[in-house]
Amino acid sequence: METNDSTSKAKALSFDDFLSKKPYSPPSWASHLKPVASKATTAVAAKYLNLDSYLILRTSKLLVGKDPGLTGNLLVERFVGAHIHLISKEEYAKIALTNVLKEQLIKEGRRPYVIPVGGSNSLGTWGYIEAMREIEEQLQITSNGVKFDDIVVACGSGGTIAGLSLGSWLGALKAKVHAFCVCDDPDYFYDFVQDLIDGLQAGVNARDIFSIINAKGLGYAMNTSEELKFVMEVAAATGVVLDPVYSGKAAYGMMKDMAENP
Ligand SMILES: Cc1ncc(COP(=O)(O)O)c(C=O)c1O
Repeated sequence: METNDSTSKAKALSFDDFLSKKPYSPPSWASHLKPVASKATTAVAAKYLNLDSYLILRTSKLLVGKDPGLTGNLLVERFVGAHIHLISKEEYAKIALTNVLKEQLIKEGRRPYVIPVGGSNSLGTWGYIEAMREIEEQLQITSNGVKFDDIVVACGSGGTIAGLSLGSWLGALKAKVHAFCVCDDPDYFYDFVQDLIDGLQAGVNARDIFSIINAKGLGYAMNTSEELKFVMEVAAATGVVLDPVYSGKAAYGMMKDMAENP
C-alpha cells in the first residue's frame, strides 16, 4: 500500500469521530456506568474510575458451584471488589450471560457497558492503534535509526492483531504483523478481524495487512510437554518468562515456522 494512500486514510480515521458515532457516545463513560467485563486489568481500571465491575469467568461444569478461591488473577480482582460470575463452558456457549447481566443492571437503574472477550470490538482496537503510534514515537526517540520489519503476536480473541496491523499499515512503521492463534483457526480470525476493521471504516482487507498461523496445538490453555519445555528453556536462557497460554505458544509456533520456512 502506498504511503500517500495510507496517510489520507489515517486522517480519515479519527478516534474522536469514531467515539461520536453510536453506540460509543460519551455518556457511556459517565461515573455511574457498570462495566460487564472479563479481565483483572479491566477491574482495576474500573476501580480507578470509581465504577463497579462484573467479571464473567468460564470454568468447568464441576467447578461452577464452588468458590474459585484465588486462582488466576482472582486475588487482584477480589482486591478491587469485582463481582465475579462463574459459568460453565457449556452454558457460556448457550446463553449470552453478558446480555442477561446487562438487562439485570439496567432494571436496577444502572447504565452498564459490556466489554466483549479480550476487549475485542472496534472501540478496543483503538488501544492497539495507539500502541503502534507509541512504538513509532519510541523508535524515533531511542532507537538510533534501528527499525524492525516484523511483529509477532499471539492471537486469542482478535483485537490485538486488528489494532496492531491497522496501526502499522496506517503509520510510518509498515512492519508486517504475524499472528499465531491459540484457539479457533486462522479463517475464523480473518473474518472476525475484518468485521472489526469494517467497524472502523478503514477500508482495508484483513488478509492484506497480517498473516495468521495456527498454534493452538492441543487446545486453548492446554500444552504439550514440548511447548512447556520451550517456555522453560527461554526463561532459563534469557530471564524472559513467556506465559504458556499465549506468548509461549506464539513463540513456539514462530520458532517452528522459522525452522520449516527459513
Ligand atoms: C500475552 C497475551 N498475548 C496475546 C493475547 C491475545 O490477544 P487478543 O485476545 O486481543 O487476540 C492475550 C490475551 O489475553 C495475552 O494475554
